[in-house]
Amino acid sequence: MVSAQQKSQVYLDVTKPIEDRVENALSQMTTKEKVELCYAQSKFSSKGVSRLGIPEVWSADGSHGVSDEKIWDEWGGAGWTNDSCTAFPALTCLAATFNPDLSLLYGKSIGEEARYRDKTVLLGPGVNIYRTPLNGRNFEYMGEDPYLASRMVVPYVQGVQSNGVAACVKHFALNNQEISRGEINVNLSDRALHEIYLPAFKAAVQEGKAWSIMGAYNQLRGEHCCHNDLLLNKILKNDWKFDGVVISDWGGVHNTDQAAKNGLDIEMGTYTNGLTTNGNFPYSKYYLANPFLKGIKEGKYDIALLNDKACRILRLIFRTTMSADRPFGRFVSPEHSEAARKIASEGIVLLKNDNQFFPIPAGKYKKIAVIGENASRSMVVGGGSTSLKVAYEVSPLQGLKDKYGDDHIIYTLGYASGPSLYGREEPSKLNADSLLAAAIEVAKNADIVLYVGGLNKNYFQDCESGDRKSLNLPFGQDKLIDALLKANKNTAVILLSGNAVAMPWVDKVPAIMQGWYLGSEAGNAMADVISGEVNPSGKLPFSFPKKLEDNAAYSFGKLSYPGDSINQYYKEDILVGYRWFDTKKIAPLFPFGYGLSYTTFVYSSPAVDRVEAKADGTVKVSFTLTNTGKSDGAETAQLYVSKPASAVTRAAKELKVFKKVFLKAGETQAVTLEVPVSSFAYYNETKSAWEVESGIYTLFLGASSRDVKGKVDVKIQ
Ligand code: BGC
Repeated sequence: MVSAQQKSQVYLDVTKPIEDRVENALSQMTTKEKVELCYAQSKFSSKGVSRLGIPEVWSADGSHGVSDEKIWDEWGGAGWTNDSCTAFPALTCLAATFNPDLSLLYGKSIGEEARYRDKTVLLGPGVNIYRTPLNGRNFEYMGEDPYLASRMVVPYVQGVQSNGVAACVKHFALNNQEISRGEINVNLSDRALHEIYLPAFKAAVQEGKAWSIMGAYNQLRGEHCCHNDLLLNKILKNDWKFDGVVISDWGGVHNTDQAAKNGLDIEMGTYTNGLTTNGNFPYSKYYLANPFLKGIKEGKYDIALLNDKACRILRLIFRTTMSADRPFGRFVSPEHSEAARKIASEGIVLLKNDNQFFPIPAGKYKKIAVIGENASRSMVVGGGSTSLKVAYEVSPLQGLKDKYGDDHIIYTLGYASGPSLYGREEPSKLNADSLLAAAIEVAKNADIVLYVGGLNKNYFQDCESGDRKSLNLPFGQDKLIDALLKANKNTAVILLSGNAVAMPWVDKVPAIMQGWYLGSEAGNAMADVISGEVNPSGKLPFSFPKKLEDNAAYSFGKLSYPGDSINQYYKEDILVGYRWFDTKKIAPLFPFGYGLSYTTFVYSSPAVDRVEAKADGTVKVSFTLTNTGKSDGAETAQLYVSKPASAVTRAAKELKVFKKVFLKAGETQAVTLEVPVSSFAYYNETKSAWEVESGIYTLFLGASSRDVKGKVDVKIQ
């Protein structure tokens, strides 16, 4: 006989199935206790059930490192001395590795840090699609291609969650700009929604089995995404069978009725705008607090709505803090530094390298001028909610000094940008002309110049809550680069940014490297690649346009981007990123999937295992890849598909598979890429379903979206 007491303890029994524990805990809770699970009690926590020993839910930003402890009801740091984390590279860098194994390592490492810090939920990763190079938050995301983002997000989520910490995939969905982010109403076709903007979320949910997801600030078709019936009830919870928790973005909830009925589970940050304002409202006034409780008591809301939310939150707690399989985590360990360094060095993209400017072995030059503010500036601070308090950060300047010796490096700022402030800009007080003049002097007297510039984490740069104002480099850098080139033609440009920039000097500089925001190990990773100890293998996760007008979203005018502050229309539809450049035959400055190596690779012509296949079949594309140069290296082979004759508009190319292959100097490997024919489908708006058209498809094997090495046709029955 099971006693009443034993029965009431089922939820505590870690050997019992989670669903039994959930049901058991729920059966012992009052309505008020259930409602209390559904809204914040502090800036980054919500209640558990203290009477039953069910812990609170504690979350922390973000995707690149676990942020410091905050004051209970303020955005400011609480001043603890045990919470300085490892900063991992920004997600654009991770995407540029094209290496899902590194994404697993990333997720596992950052998840360990979150676990050590006792977090229930890590507020990341972000997978909003790169629609415009002006979006201030692109650095937090995984680029412009839904397939690449999908392949990279899944292992990240799995890695985080292997620590008994929930990943919170964000921002669901269509938060693709920061201008008017809190209210802009996004209008787009079902095809663009399903083919471009949702796949990475779907993969995170269905393959990654994400335990939570964060609603976006903006609206979709007239409803805010944090309580959007189509997104949350229909697509996420019904179609995708998501059994986790929908957490609002901080301040993204606006209405009790919709919050109650349209799929939101936990309301956070209401009456604030994310980081700057503090409303003087008690948490009990949140939309899902007293107003929701009142509505339930009055019979306005079905108790089933509340039970569903409470079950999801309990499930999250049993999966994390009340799980028997929860490891203990670790914080700022040497393994985390090693992981950060590896990811950073594999994500760096070599864009141009005339006359083998790079690599620069130690001892080759006596005097190396390092010029540019980004060589010495902290890149982990600023940018909004991803700003980090770190245990350490090796700057590019420090990394280069360590590699080449202090005596061989001369550093000068060149330009200055002012402090990283949130929500406002403040120019530097330093004199730009004097900085320029000093830089020219240094450049003249050096063997070579390594210019380290780009964007930074200031407002209107790569920073939350604002978009960039132009594609150009800020703070007078174009003028500075021109002047440096006149002073010393051996000037290479290294850009740190999470976004594409215009490069009016592109033809004049011998070498260009795209360095991203690289985290704690930035300088070491950069020096590894510059010195040749690591052979660069990063590829661009988004296209660099020659000019802003070439970007699809921008080219359709204000209603397309950034909207009229009320509405916006995604007029480019499915033709986002390289899909636009390729279909419209616009040459980008640097294409999606592009990146050089210190060695060279030769592809053989691709062969297919079948020339005809069924809609549920698989096509195998085989070829050999040879490293024909003198150093070991890695190449990411990419397979794109096109459907020349189609009932609907099709992109000229869509990425379907990629594989990063490591090859020793001189080595040849046979490579086979398997493509499921189901991935050729388009989203049929009339049927609201995916459909594989019959007919001829062309498969392009390439080293980038533009550098096609061979193609084969396949007929689908
Ligand atoms: C951001 C989220 C972040 C949250 C908590 C919001 O401003 O949009 O990405 O997780 O703040 O800091």
